[in-house]
Amino acid sequence: MLKNILITGGAGFIGSHVVRHFVFNYPDYRVINLDKLTYAGNLKNVTDIESDSNYSFIKGDINDVKFIRELFDSYPFDAVIHLAAESHVDRSISGPMEFIKTNITGTVNLLDAAKNSWAGNNKSKLFYHISTDEVYGSLGREGLFSEKTAYDPRSPYSASKASSDHMVRAWHHTYGLPVVISNCSNNYGPNQFPEKLVPLVINNIRNGKNIPVYGRGENIRDWLYVEDHARAIDTVFHKGRIGETYNVGGNNEWKNIDLIKMLCGIMDKKLGRRQGTSEKLITFVKDRAGHDLRYAIDSSKITSELGWRPSVSFESGLERTVSWYLENKVWLNEVLSGKYKSYYREQYG
Ligand code: NAD
Ligand code: DAU
Repeated sequence: MLKNILITGGAGFIGSHVVRHFVFNYPDYRVINLDKLTYAGNLKNVTDIESDSNYSFIKGDINDVKFIRELFDSYPFDAVIHLAAESHVDRSISGPMEFIKTNITGTVNLLDAAKNSWAGNNKSKLFYHISTDEVYGSLGREGLFSEKTAYDPRSPYSASKASSDHMVRAWHHTYGLPVVISNCSNNYGPNQFPEKLVPLVINNIRNGKNIPVYGRGENIRDWLYVEDHARAIDTVFHKGRIGETYNVGGNNEWKNIDLIKMLCGIMDKKLGRRQGTSEKLITFVKDRAGHDLRYAIDSSKITSELGWRPSVSFESGLERTVSWYLENKVWLNEVLSGKYKSYYREQYG
């Protein structure tokens, strides 16, 4: 069946993998990638599909109400997969307002445009909101986040994402908009902006720079290879029940310090350096304000109901990721030029 799908944030890290997944796997779908191309958006992430006949790109801002309304007037969208957001916790601590605007108001603009455009005819439509496990707050040493865990966001980023989830549910319950939400754990893989832990560590080792570890490196994250997340999004998009939430995770918890040491080992091997060389770059720095101790996802609902499970092992996903960054120096150097330098100075001194 022909479907017109609006994917927002498709020039970003996860969005570019989702766009590619849908363009490759569903030649009968028309994929429209809407992205503002902020510092995190990069059309080089999707060069391999840019001339495919079922793909098009529109530069635009989800905060621009008039533009969003006109977009929905011009295109007969059957579905929205909404990923566009400000996504970096540290930036939300130093500058929360952009997060409030894009993640909350921007999401509401899309919800409202979809509601108005699909009024009276929303039976086969879908608004799919991509969210994060951070909405659930921070775990102690035990336990997992399930779909029933109460929301307890603790950073401006996670609070803005939690608000957007609430808005999506409000548009469902109040206006009958067909929605589905998934909340995923930490993604890693090619094309991630090097402000996030994994690409930042790879890049610093490459350049012989210190590796900044917040606090004692004791915080724990549940890591998932980005293509596994793209497959999960495909699964929820096609099989998820309207009004439901699905948690997505890697069942793959790592302390930051252990993950960083593993990356050091892979880098030493790939760069032909003596084992232990990169670990010398590890530097403990001031902790992130309000740093959540542990995230870990219970994915049993999406696995038992929809049949999704992660397929890429951590060892192989990290190997692939490191290789990608080492082989894509042009991409990395372009991304690192300009504003990245001033961001890095402000964040790390
Ligand atoms: P990213 O920062 O790499 O990409 C975000 C994209 O959104 C960029 O291309 C950017 O240009 C675009 N964008 C930002 N503001 C916009 C606006 N006003 N209008 C239009 N486009 C705009 O983010 P990511 O890591 O790929 O995350 C994508 C989504 O997945 C986010 O909603 C994030 O909350 C969620 N998520 C991320 C992770 C993770 O580990 N990265 C995990 C779970 C959920
Ligand atoms: O859990 C899902 C979330 O994962 C997503 O919703 C966010 O968009 C995504 O950015 C990510 O958030 P985190 O804060 O967990 O990711 P980040 O890569 O920034 O940090 C991972 C861990 O590493 C965290 O405990 C902080 C720590 N860290 C991070 C950086 C950038 C360091 O110790 N040093 C660093 O320089």
